[in-house]
Amino acid sequence: MSEQSLYDQIGGEAAVDAAVDIFYRKVLADDRISQFFEDVDMERQAAKQKSFLTVAFGGPNNYTGKDMRDGHAHLVTRGLNDSHFDAVMEHLGATLKELNVPDELIAKAAAIAESTRNDVLGR
Ligand code: HEM
Repeated sequence: MSEQSLYDQIGGEAAVDAAVDIFYRKVLADDRISQFFEDVDMERQAAKQKSFLTVAFGGPNNYTGKDMRDGHAHLVTRGLNDSHFDAVMEHLGATLKELNVPDELIAKAAAIAESTRNDVLGR
């Protein structure tokens, strides 16, 4: 039997859907980073959060959006930096904790998200 992906271990699409709301509220309520989301429309926003979490969970590779470097380049020109990335990582961890995801799986999701840092920050 092949090993289950992290995405499946965390609970697949249902877990992503549950996490989207919680994560979204945390990000928008955080005045360290909420300014980056101001001009983003709600529908795109929800899709973005879903894509974010699917990436973080190592989910199915059917993502057709921009790559992480191109998708955030306009934010880098607006000052996106490590402190903002750290804030997003905090919210990811706290969201999964609220959903009672085991620490071991949270650590794996964090490592996947962390692996995109240099691309997101354009370096
Ligand atoms: C683990 C790191 C991250 C991942 C995996 C991620 C994932 C994504 C994805 C998949 C998109 C959609 C790209 C597209 O097709 O347009 C996106 C867009 C976006 N991301 Fe991230 N992101 C990360 C970090 C951040 C951080 C640190 C911020 C700001 C604090 C941020 C703010 C945004 C915003 C505002 C958009 C929408 C841009 C627009 O539509 O104008 N992201 N992100």
